[in-house]
Amino acid sequence: MTINSSYIWLLLLLVLLKHGILETEASHSRNLEALQPAAASPSQIYRTSYHFQPPKNWMNDPNGPMVYKGLYHLFYQYNPLGADWGNIVWAHSTSTDLINWNPHKPAIFPSQEGDINGCWSGSTTIFPGGKPAILYTGINPSNQQVQNLAVPKNLSDPYLIEWDKSPYNPLMTPTPENKINSSSFRDPTTAWLGPDGRWRVIIGNKLNRRGKALLYRSKDFVRWTKAKHPLHSVKGTGMWECPDFYPVTSNPIGLDTSTVGALGIKHVLKVSLDDTKHDQYAIGTYDHVKDVFDPDAVAAEKFSGLRYDYGKFYASKTFYDSLKKRRILWGWINESLSREDYIAQGWSGVQGIPRLLWLDKSGKQLMQWPIKEIETLRENKVGYPPRPLKGGSILEVQGVKAAQADVDVSFELSELKRADAFDPSWTDPQLLCSQKGASIKGGIGPFGLKLLASKDMQEYTAVFFRIFKGQYKYVVLMCSDQSRSSLNVKPDKTTYGVFLDVDPLHEQLSLRSLIDHSIVESFGAKGKACITSRVYPTKALDNEAHLYVFNNGLANVTISNLSAWSMKKAHID
Ligand SMILES: *[C@@H]1O[C@H](CO)[C@@H](O)[C@H](O)[C@H]1NC(C)=O
Ligand SMILES: *[C@@H]1O[C@H](CO)[C@@H](O)[C@H](O)[C@H]1NC(C)=O
Ligand SMILES: *[C@@H]1O[C@H](CO)[C@@H](O)[C@H](O)[C@H]1NC(C)=O
Ligand SMILES: *[C@@H]1O[C@H](CO)[C@@H](O)[C@H](O)[C@H]1NC(C)=O
Ligand SMILES: *[C@@H]1O[C@H](CO)[C@@H](O)[C@H](O)[C@H]1NC(C)=O
Repeated sequence: MTINSSYIWLLLLLVLLKHGILETEASHSRNLEALQPAAASPSQIYRTSYHFQPPKNWMNDPNGPMVYKGLYHLFYQYNPLGADWGNIVWAHSTSTDLINWNPHKPAIFPSQEGDINGCWSGSTTIFPGGKPAILYTGINPSNQQVQNLAVPKNLSDPYLIEWDKSPYNPLMTPTPENKINSSSFRDPTTAWLGPDGRWRVIIGNKLNRRGKALLYRSKDFVRWTKAKHPLHSVKGTGMWECPDFYPVTSNPIGLDTSTVGALGIKHVLKVSLDDTKHDQYAIGTYDHVKDVFDPDAVAAEKFSGLRYDYGKFYASKTFYDSLKKRRILWGWINESLSREDYIAQGWSGVQGIPRLLWLDKSGKQLMQWPIKEIETLRENKVGYPPRPLKGGSILEVQGVKAAQADVDVSFELSELKRADAFDPSWTDPQLLCSQKGASIKGGIGPFGLKLLASKDMQEYTAVFFRIFKGQYKYVVLMCSDQSRSSLNVKPDKTTYGVFLDVDPLHEQLSLRSLIDHSIVESFGAKGKACITSRVYPTKALDNEAHLYVFNNGLANVTISNLSAWSMKKAHID
């Protein structure tokens, strides 16, 4: 959550409260219905077909994802009154498969002193026995950030439509004694239960430029005491938004958030850096006696290395899916349009396809893959047997709806002697990708996909690889080049890039892209790196969109496997 425009927003809220548009706890549901996501207006060329988004208005952070009585719940930061940030409530939808969704009325909206100026991000915790609880940030009448608790009103209702706020709210507040900056104290995580019977939760914070994960402990989930030391902090990183802290192993079978001491266990601390708008994570060890997190690597220590996604992906949150024993990642994907343009289209923001998340065998990074359920939307498969793709050639993948597709391609390189030399000064993969875009010929590569392409190639988004010969090993670069994605000059077309930790001599290079009208989510090397792009074609729309495999390098490559599917529309009403 950012806090700009909070003054205008405050005025708006006062007006709304005066006219009874924003519901208070005591009054009843008629006005509240008006806040429920309502139908969108027509001519919505950039709306997605299988990514989660409300029918209209602004959406940002995913909040409190969980499974309860066999139903998945997603809450999210939502402005019921417009396509711009403001008037934030917790909108709420449920699903049986994480793909098709039913909307409900907002679960949490301003109604108490502790949240009267806004209900910002937070998380759910499932107590032993299955009862859920929400911790979230509220904005109080003095515009301070405080932490609140809400619990379901009726545990027999699997939809958990009504939530009761604790009469003890706010539970955690900034005071002169604890020296917490009241403008930088937000986004509680899922709590975890220590072997000593006490709950722990972390809250995002900064002091001057030091980002912090403040630690609180509680025996009863109501009375919380701030620990003397944060779980972790790093100087110079600015505000840590939406922290997330959880255990992983190299087995895709996930672990409950409270698990400590399992075989091969590592802990992940993720923070959303307000300064850069990147979700960075570190892998390390959680010492549950000292209650501190020790990152394994030096780069991780500075939160400068690992990202969930090297494109647009922010304010993400994981949850443990006890139904299918896996850890799932949700993330908000912002527009790349100007503010006036997203206000004009009447909506802003989508959620990424939920991703299965686990630790790579190397222990040095996470792996991510779209959840299996997304494959139920696949239809009309197109497949190619292995075939060469000569240097300088391009091949159209025909027979799929190219604006709404799932494509998975693997490449094999028979020899690597044409690889260009890697200059050790190239430390910034995004910069390298922007200097060596899809149209710049190399020794090996660029090769990959041209997506959302117009027939005349005036528009396309290129997701591709390049291979360089480094001093000790080959360097594989993965890029998403948006520079030609739209004839419209206004959207942000920053090119994204990442170095992939693969050995092209012994491994196939794979690329999977989920294409959905204005979004492309790409997974390199079976999930070792992800790049999400928002693009706004003017010609490559719907049936005018095409999909190509290309090789603009000197060396030939082999397409060892290519499968593509048209995607059905999900039910997201
Ligand atoms: C609680 O939810 C159940 C299941 O939806 C419903 O039958 C029951 O009437 C609800 N109880 C109250 C007090 O609303
Ligand atoms: C407190 O946070 C606000 C908002 O980020 C910032 O403007 C202010 O400088 C911070 N104060 C301190 C002492 O860090
Ligand atoms: C969202 O995108 C806008 C441009 O459309 C940009 O100004 C803003 O910083 C982005 N925010 C995040 C969290 O990515
Ligand atoms: C690429 O393959 C073609 C045959 O399809 C061959 O004539 C050509 O020599 C190959 N190029 C290289 C650089 O190996
Ligand atoms: C080809 O790709 C498809 C889709 O990813 C996969 O199911 C299949 O196993 C692959 N085949 C081979 C031979 O790798």
